[in-house]
This record gives sequence, structure tokens and C-alpha cells, in this order.
Amino acid sequence: MAEILVDVLIYSVTAEARGIHSFDLRPVDGGLLPAFTAGSHIDLHLPNGLVRSYSLVNAPSQRHRYVVAVSRDVKSSGGSRYLFETPLVGKTIRIGLPRNNFALIEGVSEAVLVAGGIGITPLYCMIQRMEEIGANWRLHYGARDRDSAAFRVELEKLESAQPGRVHFNFDLEEGHMLDIAAAVADAPAGAHLYCCGPIPMLEAFKAACAARPSEDVHLEYFAAPKVAAPTGCAFTVTVASSGQTYEIPQGRTILEVLIEQGIYATSSCRAGVCGACEVAVLEGEPDHKDYVLSDAERASNKKMMICVSGSKSANLLLEL
Ligand code: FES
Repeated sequence: MAEILVDVLIYSVTAEARGIHSFDLRPVDGGLLPAFTAGSHIDLHLPNGLVRSYSLVNAPSQRHRYVVAVSRDVKSSGGSRYLFETPLVGKTIRIGLPRNNFALIEGVSEAVLVAGGIGITPLYCMIQRMEEIGANWRLHYGARDRDSAAFRVELEKLESAQPGRVHFNFDLEEGHMLDIAAAVADAPAGAHLYCCGPIPMLEAFKAACAARPSEDVHLEYFAAPKVAAPTGCAFTVTVASSGQTYEIPQGRTILEVLIEQGIYATSSCRAGVCGACEVAVLEGEPDHKDYVLSDAERASNKKMMICVSGSKSANLLLEL
């Protein structure tokens, strides 16, 4: 089934911090956009042909718009460069529907959020949701300096309203980076912990959370920590809708082969971090190499990311 895409109007662009712009996207007909949950992201299908995923920043109750925030990447391969250098207000852009690989678990005693740089985006969305439902939260937010911390003013207001919830670490002022181990150690038992930021921060967070129940620990990667090795050895994939079987040679991905064969499959990052290429597994045992699925989801072998993952069984029957 073809991916559903929606045309939206770029209503405004706002400088949120040094090197970070937010983009307010509204329905072209002025109606409501599809509902989303805190932690979701959308794909922007840029007119230059690139597809880039960005977290939604605004409160899920704001159905009249989607807001994404983008950090200017000096090594940009064309995504952030395009968004920063092209006059876009008033233009129409195509987006995918929201997906959530980083969902906020509601109804728990507390959420402890750890953000690094632009990693604040899904966490700020979660904070707005928790404010709306009266949930307990605290945030540890590391940024290079105060001018590069997006949504700092909004977070300072929340801190003034109820002190003790927002802990900034401005690296250049403090002379050190955010102490992830201390932030995690500070979280009470039963709290759910969330982290989004650069890879070293995520790895430190994972290590600090090692003794906690895995279902209480949630991470979102923007980029793969290492490029997944291409699928190890040859295996076959059967497409359930047609019954056709395809060989996936060593060193190729399922996604590449299926696209070459003219089979429609959605994708975005092609690095195992966005979840766009998720496919249900009807038979067989995937060799998971993504950074999206939880431990429980991996163990169930009910779904896989076909852009990076391979197979431990001779064949995989996929719901395509
Ligand atoms: S395309 Fe992003 S996880 Fe596969």
C-alpha cells in the first residue's frame, strides 16, 4: 500500500535558538491534521527529492498544526541546508503521517527526560502533553550554551511555575557536559526515563540505565551509532501479497532488493533509526540491526526494519 502523504502549508519559520529553526506546518484547507501522540515524528518530503524525519514539537492537542524544529547541520547532505537556505514561508510541502517509535508512557509515577541539543524536540512535546494531563516530570537538558538551547524561555517559565523540574547544563558555562549518570541516578524507582540527543549521550544513558527494567527506558536515535553491517549471508524473502520469493544476496538489504524488483516499500533514513520501513514478519526469524525496536519487540520477531535487518532463518515471509 502506498504511503499516505499530506500537503501542508509552511505557515511560519521561527528562529528558536542559534542554528535551530522551527517550521509551523498547517493544513492547506485550514482544517485539522491527523492526530499524533507525544514523541512522534514526521517525514518531510523536500522538493529537492530528499526525505528527512523530524520530531513533532508542539502539543498533541494542537491539531491545527504540526511544528518541527531543525538544527542546521554544517555537514548537511541537503536536508537542513535546504530548509535553512530556501525561502519557504507560504510554500506547500508534502509530509508523511506521524509515526511514533518513542511514545510517552502515561499513567506512571514520573517521567525523567534527558535531552542533548536538538534532542529536546520530542521531549518538549512530551512535556507539553504531561502539563496538559497533570503528570510528574523532570528534565535534564544539556546544550553548548544558553543561546543554543531551543525552547529555553518556555522551559524557564515552566520552571518558575513549579521549581525543581528543569535542570539546564550549559557546557561552556559549567565547564563540563551534562552528567548523565547523575541524572539517571536521581530518577526514583518506577520512573520512566527518556533520552534523545547525540550518540555519545545515548550510549552513556543506556549504560547508566543498565540496572533498570528495560521497559522503563526509552531512547530515540537521530542517527545510527554505527552503520549496520549489510545482511550477513544470503537468504530469501517471500512477499505475502504475491507469494513471490526473492533472494537477498550477501551484502544487500531487503529494502534495496525489493525496490529493485518494483515492490513498493516505504523508507526514509535507511539507517535503522526512523521506523519508516517497518514491516510485519509472518514467518521466520529476523536478524535485527535497527535502533527503533524495543528488546521485547525484537524478541517477539513480529516486525522488522528492512533497511538494515537481515535474517537468521533461510526465509522470511513478510507482510508486503
Ligand atoms: S528507513 Fe528508517 S528505519 Fe528503515
